[in-house]
Amino acid sequence: MSEKQTYTVPAGQELRVEVAMDSKTTLTLESGEAEVFGAELAPARTYNLTGLHKIAVFSFRGATVSLTPEPAVVYVAEETTGMTYLNLHVALEQQRAKAATIPSLTGPRILVAGGGDAGKTTLCRTLLNYAVRAGKVPLYVDLDPAEGSVTVPGTLTATAIPEIIGPEEGFAALTAGSDAPTRPIVYHYGTSQIHDNADLYAMILEKLAKVVNARVSQDPQVKEAGIVVDTAGAGDAKGIDTVAKAVEAFEIETVLVLGNERLYSTLVSRFKSSTKAIHIVKLPKAGGAVDRDEAFRRASQREKIRSYFYGFNTAELAPCHVQINWARAQVYRLSEASIAPDSALPIGGERQVTGPRVVRVESPDILLHTLLAIVPDEGQKDHPKLDDQGKPIVLDEMDAIAALGSPVIGFACVHEVDLKGKWFTALAPMDNIPSVRMVSSVFRWVEE
Ligand SMILES: Nc1ncnc2c1ncn2[C@@H]1O[C@H](COP(=O)(O)OP(=O)(O)OP(=O)(O)O)[C@@H](O)[C@H]1O
Ligand SMILES: [Mg+2]
Repeated sequence: MSEKQTYTVPAGQELRVEVAMDSKTTLTLESGEAEVFGAELAPARTYNLTGLHKIAVFSFRGATVSLTPEPAVVYVAEETTGMTYLNLHVALEQQRAKAATIPSLTGPRILVAGGGDAGKTTLCRTLLNYAVRAGKVPLYVDLDPAEGSVTVPGTLTATAIPEIIGPEEGFAALTAGSDAPTRPIVYHYGTSQIHDNADLYAMILEKLAKVVNARVSQDPQVKEAGIVVDTAGAGDAKGIDTVAKAVEAFEIETVLVLGNERLYSTLVSRFKSSTKAIHIVKLPKAGGAVDRDEAFRRASQREKIRSYFYGFNTAELAPCHVQINWARAQVYRLSEASIAPDSALPIGGERQVTGPRVVRVESPDILLHTLLAIVPDEGQKDHPKLDDQGKPIVLDEMDAIAALGSPVIGFACVHEVDLKGKWFTALAPMDNIPSVRMVSSVFRWVEE
């Protein structure tokens, strides 16, 4: 059906909408008031939704909305999280009011945890939007490398949120491009699973926490508004342990656990004798949260990479193709040993703890279409250092690991490789790449 369909959303209820892959629909608020994950809908504006949108249009007072054409899944749900999330926001605002007047206090430090597809990112987004609507600038910390909410997948990020995260574009519109409203702090991890390279993950989590904790104490807006930490699904003991480490590193005071009893009770017993009070709050798994399959996740990751280079709207940004001389480049990859999944180990085999490992990429041909993180090249200003025969000196592995411990400057995606291995061309947001030291990720992206 391609006609407009109109739906009534009674007060306290929500219209859940899932658009099928490769199709589109438009959403319009016809009357009343409604919001999508904390972002108010403007009356009569048309919102474009694609196959990557699974949303809920919630109304506190009742609304009428229309969809054209009718999407694959659409229904009104009576049981919603709307009032619970609003009440949480009200409690957080009380903490913010205290932090604004008492110098020794900071705003709320919240971490959201739970299993996969429990509604964690949606809860973070809703609380961030409510904070922005209350005139605050909270800091969003994304510890889920599969999500890559604010830049590209394979990253851990912290981003001050100065504007509403909109229903159509999500975080992408806030961060893409040099004149974006906010600049995230980004660490490169390179894969989507937190256990793929556990040592590297632990290292950059600690680094990011230091930067975030410093920001909370130095930036008055963030000190008042606080931080909201999003995590990867904690499905097993290692995942739970990672959540517990994040609680400690980010000095979290309130953990919101979405529908995961094991995680909840493990955290309660782990922190019951902690010197600082940590509130662990159990919330039901969000009823509307939709399980997303691998195909959806891959499509969503590809779209994140596309919008990093081109902006949320097609051709909003103008990335450049930059040719890089291989002799000058310093490209590293995470070594096979460190990214092998547990399932690749022999039966009964134990993963050896070796620390993060990277190796130099010897030839550019394996990099075609690979997403590369550009990392700082400090201390190597007159690069490349050449040996007696005029060949560049290969940097020490430790040097590359140290580079992984620095925030990323930007990303590039390999577009073309010279068969003789002399150069490669990469799509990059800027034409003068400030560093030729790069670390590859497992993500590949081909321009269509
Ligand atoms: N109330 C709702 N109605 C409709 N869709 C929803 C609702 N809440 C969440 N969703 C959708 O369900 C999906 C899963 O939600 P979300 O991304 O918040 O889960 P998550 O716990 O962060 O998942 P992951 O473990 O993959 O990070 C998303 O596509 C989200 O847009
Ligand atoms: Mg998530």
